[in-house]
Amino acid sequence: MYKVEEGKIQLENGSISEGLIAIASGKGGVGKSTVTVNLAISLAKAGKKVGILDADIHGFSIPRIIGLKDEAKTKDNKTIIPPKSFNIKVISMGSFVDERNPVVWRAPLLSGALQQFMQDVEWGELDYLLLDLPPGTGDMALDIMQNLPHAEVLVVTTPQPTAVHVAGRIGKAAEKLDVDVLGVIENMSYFRCDDCGHKEYIFGQGGGKDLAKELNTDLLGQLPLDPIARQASDDGLPIVEAKKELEISKVYKKISETITSKNTEFDPNKKPISLQNGPACH
Ligand SMILES: Nc1ncnc2c1ncn2[C@@H]1O[C@H](COP(=O)(O)OP(=O)(O)OP(=O)(O)O)[C@@H](O)[C@H]1O
Ligand SMILES: [Mg+2]
Ligand SMILES: [Zn+2]
Repeated sequence: MYKVEEGKIQLENGSISEGLIAIASGKGGVGKSTVTVNLAISLAKAGKKVGILDADIHGFSIPRIIGLKDEAKTKDNKTIIPPKSFNIKVISMGSFVDERNPVVWRAPLLSGALQQFMQDVEWGELDYLLLDLPPGTGDMALDIMQNLPHAEVLVVTTPQPTAVHVAGRIGKAAEKLDVDVLGVIENMSYFRCDDCGHKEYIFGQGGGKDLAKELNTDLLGQLPLDPIARQASDDGLPIVEAKKELEISKVYKKISETITSKNTEFDPNKKPISLQNGPACH
């Protein structure tokens, strides 16, 4: 599917020089896709070239959150030129199944979509490729990790202790599959009171910190619960773009700085298992 050469991941139609980051969670609805988009834009604002591969084949939501308007186009019916939004190259199943958008390229088979997205998309020279994984620790998420051994897993969790438990499973799987864990992001950590500014810990506390400790990794940041951010997501205008002065946007900025300051080296001895029939589709 790709090879590592001269310190870069060399794709069929592009390269990744700084990080292949898989955003994962133990369960659905914790804000994975929202985090993927806002992190991608924060990295782009820091001058990085960023792509998003929406690997949530069935439940894709990246196009809506990032306000993607353009369609994927094909070059000679062989490769796909990914559309851009806020300077992020985006590829998603959503680019192929829209009824108003006649399929410009043979729609990827669900089972082979990941491989096709990695190989046939004209990613060009990227610094970071972010993958929004399907929720949970199902076959799909595990298969993706297994086939992308150079991916680093970024686990998104909510702060309650039960969430830590499920999110922990994906971290354990990463360990077993010999994929590195980049860190933990705790989302919806607290609500900042409009009147006095105190933090209200609606969902409890400590989950992200405990999980990071359990996985022997860092808690990269705690994002507040912010209704304005939710609205921004629904409107396709991500919060770091819409309101960069907000606390949540500053936390995103800090997380992206932590990520860019890490020096990732892709191990040329780790080999991706080429997908035979694509990841199992459940
Ligand atoms: N920090 C936040 N404050 C307020 N709302 C948020 C925050 N983060 C995410 N949300 C909202 O929570 C909902 C779920 O977010 P999102 O779709 O990103 O989760 P997900 O983990 O990708 O879900 P799925 O498992 O369905 O893929 C969305 O409505 C989103 O706008
Ligand atoms: Mg999602
Ligand atoms: Zn208060």
